[in-house]
Amino acid sequence: MQMSRRSLLAALGATAGAAALAGHGFTTGPGAPNWQIGYANAPAGGFAPRSMDLISGRLPDGFSGTLYRNGPAWFSYGGETLDHWFDGDGMVQRIALRDGQAVHTGKFVATNKHRSEQAAGRFLAPGFGSAGDESYPVMGVDDANAANTSVLVVDGRLHALWEAGSAMELDPITLETLGARSWREDLKGMPFLAHPKVEPDGTVWNLAVAGSKVGIYRISPKGAVQSFDMLDLGVTPYLHDWAITERHLILMIQPWLMTKFIPPFVDTLQWRPEEGLKLLIIDKADMSSRRSAEVEGHAFFHTGAAWEDASGAIHIDVALYDEPFLGSGGGTNLMQGRYIAAEDDANGVLSRIIVEADGRARIQKTDIDGEFPVVHPAFHGLGRRLTALVGGSSPGRPGARKVSLMDWRSGKTSHFDYGASRVPEEHLFVAKPGGRGEHDAWLVGTALNIASGRSEVHVFDVADISEGPVASFAARYAWPLGFHGTFAPG
Ligand SMILES: [Fe+2]
Repeated sequence: MQMSRRSLLAALGATAGAAALAGHGFTTGPGAPNWQIGYANAPAGGFAPRSMDLISGRLPDGFSGTLYRNGPAWFSYGGETLDHWFDGDGMVQRIALRDGQAVHTGKFVATNKHRSEQAAGRFLAPGFGSAGDESYPVMGVDDANAANTSVLVVDGRLHALWEAGSAMELDPITLETLGARSWREDLKGMPFLAHPKVEPDGTVWNLAVAGSKVGIYRISPKGAVQSFDMLDLGVTPYLHDWAITERHLILMIQPWLMTKFIPPFVDTLQWRPEEGLKLLIIDKADMSSRRSAEVEGHAFFHTGAAWEDASGAIHIDVALYDEPFLGSGGGTNLMQGRYIAAEDDANGVLSRIIVEADGRARIQKTDIDGEFPVVHPAFHGLGRRLTALVGGSSPGRPGARKVSLMDWRSGKTSHFDYGASRVPEEHLFVAKPGGRGEHDAWLVGTALNIASGRSEVHVFDVADISEGPVASFAARYAWPLGFHGTFAPG
């Protein structure tokens, strides 16, 4: 499918995403705060496979698989810093956790953007928050692809995802970049959003966002496109995440709307809370069957997931903000080693949007602040009780400090506080072998230890996270803070 330059730029705009060192380490300047290692260039050559040190507990029997994560990992050339955190080149981290061991590997995704900029020694490509250099050719969505937001494994094949470009396929062991994945010949070059929704049977739903036009992929567990439908939203919202239930797709149109299609796109977004947060609910079995609902205007980055109850009401858990965060220039202070709490840090509030069968909708807010809400993959789209997220804050430095587990049925929350020196990232559910329910699972997540300058991985028992990790490993170095991951059992 050919895209016009306008729709190409619109696709780029609807995205958030979005000094070589000898050995391992970071290029932070003298006197830089210790947390800046989370926002400093990773080694250009990546991280060769290396065992992490067991620092407490032990990997539970039966825990076996690979945690893949993605995030921006290149922020500056000389004195020049990126114009937005979401535009940093993606580096995929691989942590193999089996036989009681943890082995880390990291590698930059070899995108056109990354290779061109590394060769030139400066930033060139336009992006979410970057204007780009006029000399840099943008012939297709993948020339600006930063491949820095998330990862997806389909039938054993690993992909690094951005918002507005192709899924970039990587070797699942070495992380070598294999190239842009074409899901179907006529869909070559179509955007593939960084928040695909994977049903418990492995069916993948995802969006191709190009301005107001949205394509909907339905992909089999083996990676074959089963359908691709297009719709027009009529407006171009910042569309980073969405939700599915067993029977429906839910596109959430937040009133943060793009008005022009020129980079840097974040500068063209207008906040119009009076227009409300609209929900477009589409029947999976008949894409032409659609209905709408609306709640008060809020901004959001991430949903946990959604489900439908016996009455037909749809429940969506989501981290809501009263107004957008990480707009123009988002993250530049942090990349330059400055932290201004009011500008550089915000958490959403874990909330539930409930759309009754008759279309009335309301927001129920919890008292849990945080981001990166996650659910057990075997219950995605189904009735469930648990949502995990990371949140909290520490004076004087950015990032979260605790992991929380919300039980929607009991209304109870449990937490583990990592303390001021650790910055936890997204934590994922891992089913125990033969596990029968949501509680019969582990949580696995990374944390950056800013006191020791080491990246860590921690495993919790979902039955009681407040007890702390049952196993913790530390690398002998740090890698930058990232966004999203996936866990591949095996
Ligand atoms: Fe995201």
